[in-house]
Amino acid sequence: MAQILTIDSSTGRALGRAVEALARGEPIGLPTETVYGLAADATNAEAITRIYETKDRPRFNPLISHMSGLDMARRHAVFNPLAERLANAFWPGALTLVLPLAPDSDIHALATAGLPSVAVRVPTGFAADVIAAFGKPLAAPSANRSGRISPTTAQHVADDIGDRIGLILDAGPCAVGVESTIVEVTDSGLRLLRPGGVTAEAIEAETGLRLSRQHSDPGQPLVAPGMMASHYAPAAQVRLDAERVWPGEVALTFAARPMAGLEDARLVLDLSPAGDLREAAANLFDYLKRADSSGAEIIAVASIPGAGLGEAINDRLRRAAAPRPATHAR
Ligand code: TXA
Ligand code: MG
Repeated sequence: MAQILTIDSSTGRALGRAVEALARGEPIGLPTETVYGLAADATNAEAITRIYETKDRPRFNPLISHMSGLDMARRHAVFNPLAERLANAFWPGALTLVLPLAPDSDIHALATAGLPSVAVRVPTGFAADVIAAFGKPLAAPSANRSGRISPTTAQHVADDIGDRIGLILDAGPCAVGVESTIVEVTDSGLRLLRPGGVTAEAIEAETGLRLSRQHSDPGQPLVAPGMMASHYAPAAQVRLDAERVWPGEVALTFAARPMAGLEDARLVLDLSPAGDLREAAANLFDYLKRADSSGAEIIAVASIPGAGLGEAINDRLRRAAAPRPATHAR
């Protein structure tokens, strides 16, 4: 079983242990502000392969390469003025930029899936410290088995893949709770590949540009590799825009809004009684896991506003509700 090291009480020791494991090519459970990542040396083929094995990911999708700061990112990706502007406005933070791969970058082709582009992000806090101490970018998808809900606590990571890795660093619950926003930056503009922790509205306000939204909706063709319609799948079925809950179901509500049948629900979880989308995003994956743990077969989810962070929340909920391969069934 993985050792869980709490970083607030022993930051120096945790940092040292993390760097040792990364230098051996081992993936570690690393807290970021969005979700917990399964992080490994982005320049090391063996280490990247171990990420895929640990996740049971059936094929190689490009991974996000996490940087300690803009200086490191510039060594691996080509920044045009628009990319510079976004990096300055939103880094460190929950924004991933897809940019041309720099000619002399040593990020391994397994991390970019051989594409001429690379996805880069600078996380906040402890994750950035680990990358700076290690001195090389870290490839890190979410630290869950493929198709499962992303982890927002160290315990989630331990429950899902704790028997497959040696070390999980624990920085408490993730502040954002949904993955980063992925934006492709080209000379002709910006394309939203995945809604996430930085809102489209904030990016549009910063740049004065409209984001084209070409991420895949469930049932539509894939744009970003790895943006599978069925993803973030709980064991239970998810029913969206529910106006009532039936006996035995879990109700996932929002803003203390009433839903018919609540008194007979197995469990009622309000993503944010105050109606705060930030709080709802931070609670989303944990509440889906709790709903699953209750043994319910159906999770009835109230409609959630679609603006701001609601775009990412609704995207993840649609994926959780999408038809999925039989292997994910309870
Ligand atoms: O918040 C996050 O982004 C988390 C934390 C750990 O940082 N990481 C994460 O990584 O969600 P992952 O591997 O689950 O998502 C990476 C996404 C995939 O959908 C992949 O297709 C897309 O990024 N991606 C990576 N490189 C790309 C590229 N060159 N072009 C287009 N999409 C790319
Ligand atoms: Mg993931």
